[in-house]
This record gives sequence, C-alpha cells and structure tokens, in this order.
Amino acid sequence: MSGISTTNSGGSRLTPDGQPSPGSAILGGVERDRIRDLYRRHVNAGKVGFYERFGLDAVIGERSGIRFFDAFDPGRSWINCHCNGGVFNLGHRNPAITAAVAECLATADIGNHHLPAPGRAELAARLSATTAGRLPGVVFGVSGGEAVDLAIKLARWKTGRTRVVSASGGYHGHTGLALAAGDPEYRDAFGENLPGFTQVPFDDLPAMRAAVSVDTAAVILEPMPATLGMPIPSADYLVGVQQTCRSAGSVLILDEVQTGLGRTGRVWAYQHWDLEPDVIVTGKGLSGGIYPITATLMTRELHSLFDEQPFIHVSTFGGAEPGCAAGLAVLDVIEAPGFLERVADLGGRFESEFSDLPFEVRRKGLMMGLGFGVAGAGMLAAKTLFDLGIFSVYANNDTSVLQFLPPLITSDDEASEIIQIVRKAFG
Ligand SMILES: Cc1ncc(COP(=O)(O)O)c(C=O)c1O
Repeated sequence: MSGISTTNSGGSRLTPDGQPSPGSAILGGVERDRIRDLYRRHVNAGKVGFYERFGLDAVIGERSGIRFFDAFDPGRSWINCHCNGGVFNLGHRNPAITAAVAECLATADIGNHHLPAPGRAELAARLSATTAGRLPGVVFGVSGGEAVDLAIKLARWKTGRTRVVSASGGYHGHTGLALAAGDPEYRDAFGENLPGFTQVPFDDLPAMRAAVSVDTAAVILEPMPATLGMPIPSADYLVGVQQTCRSAGSVLILDEVQTGLGRTGRVWAYQHWDLEPDVIVTGKGLSGGIYPITATLMTRELHSLFDEQPFIHVSTFGGAEPGCAAGLAVLDVIEAPGFLERVADLGGRFESEFSDLPFEVRRKGLMMGLGFGVAGAGMLAAKTLFDLGIFSVYANNDTSVLQFLPPLITSDDEASEIIQIVRKAFG
C-alpha cells in the first residue's frame, strides 16, 4: 500500500545496547492492522482512508526529541517538521516539561477553578509579562477554539456589537464562534452560519476597511495564517488593520495559537510589527506537548467583565494545574537567554540552504511554508518527505504549500540532517 522504505533515514528504535526494543519486532503487521481497524471503526474511518490513499501509514509509537517512531516497526521513524502546529515546539517529551509536570503531579491534580492555585496565578502573571503588562487579564482554557470563543464573547460584551470580521482561509478552531469565523467548508454541514460573521481576503487592507464598520465587535486574524500556507503580510497590513479597528472602536484579536511562544523568533509574532492587540489567543505550544492548556490574554478593560460576573465564562479543566506547570516550564525555556535568537538564526540557515531548491520559502523564524506554486504540490511534497523520514503536513487551504515547522530545539546536527533530506527530496 505505502511503498514506504522500512529503513528510512530518520533513525531507528533501539535499546541502549543497540537491539530493537522488545515488542517492536514481535508485533508487526497483524497488530498494526488491528489498531488501524479499531481506529477506523471507532475513531475516524475517513482519516485512516485519507492518509492511506497518500501512503502515510504510520502508527505513532515511541517519541523523543525531534523524532517519533512507528509503533510496530523499529526501522521507521520521522523527524517531526509539523509539530502539530506548535504543540511540539520544544520537541517530544522535553525533559524540562515532563519533569515540571511530574513534580506538580507529586502533590497536585487538575485542581479546582473556584480556588486560587499557585501555578495558575504564576503562569497568568508570566504570560501577562510577555506583553509588557499590556494584556494583564488571562483566562485559561483547554482548547484553542474555546479560547477564541471567549475572545469573541468579550469583544461582543465590550462593544455591545455582534459583527466579527476574519480572513478567508484562516483557521480558529471548530467550536461555536471560532467555527463561525472560519471557512464554510467546516461549517456548512451543520446548517446556516451564525449571523454577523464576514470573511475577507488576508493581506487586503481595502477589503478589511470596507468590511469593518461601527457595527463591528472584533477583527480576528492569525498574523501568518498557517492553514492558508503561512503568507507573510505586507509590512503595513496588520498595523493598518489595527488602525481600522481603533477608528471603528472594534477589538483586535490576534490568534497566536500557532505563531506564538517563540515559533517566529519572538515570543509573539505581533512583536515583529510593533502592534498593540487587545486580545491574544495562545494554545498548542503552551502545553509543552504534555498537558493541554490554552489561554486568552486581554486588556484590563476586557478583563473587567470578570470583576462583576466571575462565573460568566467557566472551563472546568481550563488552567488545570499540570498544564500550568507545563506552561511555566515552556516559558522558562523560550525566555532563556539566546533561545529566540537561535530560532531566528536556525530559520535563516534553513532559508539559505533551501535557496536553490524549487520552492519559495515563506518564513518568520521557524514558522515556514514551502510554496511549490501548483495546487496539490504541498501534498506530494509531504508524501515525498514522509518516505525519506520527515513528517510534515500541507496547508489545507492552499495545497500548493507545505507547512514546515521543525521543533525550535532542533540542534545544528539535526538541522543538517533535515536539510540533507529536503535537498535529497527536491534538489
Ligand atoms: C491558528 C489556530 N487557532 C485555533 C486553533 C484551534 O485550536 P484547538 O484545536 O486546540 O481548538 C488552531 C488549531 O489548529 C489553530 O491553528
């Protein structure tokens, strides 16, 4: 079915003395088929079929650092250059994160959102400090969609308006208001969209100006929409959107679920453009890949809703204590001296090493889209790299682009390995 080499270049799953891990050789095809059948029957048949058609037949098993291994074949592994959109920014099972979460779990559990807890308070303060205190209010969630929903709710409350403008091809999640701000493809099956949502082309300031009025509660944008293939906005676009929001009295929400937490070489992507958003949404990487946690960061004015109505938005698992421990450890890593500079340098190295290859590199830091210029080419590129030991995913709303997101902790030698594979694939 797959034609995938069983000795791909990504490495192999071995014990310290060089033998295949126990169990891996014994399992094999029958067990693989059983797991895939269970997944097909009970989780998502369409996904299994979709990836099978592309010959992407991995069953994810052990993982560590920048790599994950096939659950049933010790000879197959992949360098993760998708990182689940940033969840694995710091690699798989980063020891700093697992240690922090283990330490938390030695005495605590999920916790109780009714009561203050040290980890939750500390993480909120640390997140606020990343915005130089401009966004002092922090509300935790479990998913990015939930955090986006809250951002839109707050904008509606503050402005007393309901209209929301977003970018076509952008993506904010599959929950209620986040879904409503996204593409029709993901919501048409469920009936009419909620009223008041408008999409405009990304990086088109006249279209944005035409769509925003004194009836607009919020504009929500990703600084570089990942699902749209990481287009880099023109220098004046985001500042222009902010001015448009200010003139109309609308709230500017930046969805930094993928672009945030060091991915672009700054803590937040908005810091590349000297913006002052009213709300930032973060998720994915805040978990350290270990424990789900997301957050909505907001101005004091927006946060004041909770002074009077503390129960107006509640998330039972939002800000669970192990997630706060993970989030604090993530901030420790990305705020360590030199970390963000290293991300920027590494991104520059990839770009220059790829400069003679037949694709365009869209890049800020290690947020990269490889544009092949032909619809569907991003899918083929993903399959080509998969066969050579790199896992990456095409951009769903621009299939000419391959999303290329190596872990931020990639070493120089590992970067050389990635470059060598990409050059082998496309050189
Ligand atoms: C930019 C962006 N916003 C929001 C979300 C939704 O996050 P979640 O899947 O955690 O709800 C995603 C998920 O991929 C995303 O990429």
